[in-house]
Amino acid sequence: MKAYTPQLWNFGPKSKLVILTGAGISAESGIRTFRDSGGLWEDHRVEDVATPEGFARNPGMVIEFYNQRRLELSHVRPNPAHEAIACLGNRLAERLLLVTQNIDNLHERGGSKQVEHMHGELLKLRCLRDERHVIDFAGVQNIDFPCPQCGAKMRPHIVWFGEIPFDMDAIQDALQCCTHFVFVGTSSQVYPAAGFRKVAKAVGAKVLCINLEVEADDPYTDLIIQGKAGIEVPLWVDSMP
Ligand code: OAD
Repeated sequence: MKAYTPQLWNFGPKSKLVILTGAGISAESGIRTFRDSGGLWEDHRVEDVATPEGFARNPGMVIEFYNQRRLELSHVRPNPAHEAIACLGNRLAERLLLVTQNIDNLHERGGSKQVEHMHGELLKLRCLRDERHVIDFAGVQNIDFPCPQCGAKMRPHIVWFGEIPFDMDAIQDALQCCTHFVFVGTSSQVYPAAGFRKVAKAVGAKVLCINLEVEADDPYTDLIIQGKAGIEVPLWVDSMP
């Protein structure tokens, strides 16, 4: 692994980029990450609030957990990392696919027009009877809140452990033809997202990690930028042709 330079990155007019973001990109906006010290998984058991089994056992507790997360969104703002990625998206258009594991809406509020939310979205609910019934929802969910289309109960539109992430076909297609891959603010602990850099590497893409902590000698990462996303992402975007 080498320190990032624009020369080593070598991004050209025909290059195609996939960006994967994780909780670290929203940390400076004030949203807690999951696995850092003080992270969400210190206060909550994954099995209780982020699995279908936990929801079946105690739907009220799970709904309340996501109500709290949804409430937090009204107190936070996108940071310069979200905004820089949105600017890059405007420049690269269809040559960029932005994939996030985050369920917040800070990429959209930062200006990104297309975001693949592979782990779902806080501001949506999904029908428990028919998964095609998905609605926008910004308030406090009540356990009996009915699906507007069929009246069944609803759940947060979140991908829990043991479930299949969203948009995997589009993401795999983009990974197969990308020339460059960047992952930002993720601990790379959760699959399939943790495997994206391996897929990119296998097709010959250059792989860049921008993170507070970097894994020394990761065989699937070519270049690193160590630091806070809110500072380093705008600098990296500025260095792009
Ligand atoms: P994690 O909490 O596992 O990792 C956050 C990463 O961000 C760590 O590697 C930190 O070093 C880094 N980080 C923290 N602050 C940063 C900053 N200001 N700038 C740059 N990097 C920073 O979060 P994720 O990898 O996103 O899934 O977690 C992946 C998935 O695990 C989540 O989507 C969620 C969780 O369980 C589900 O709930 C399904």
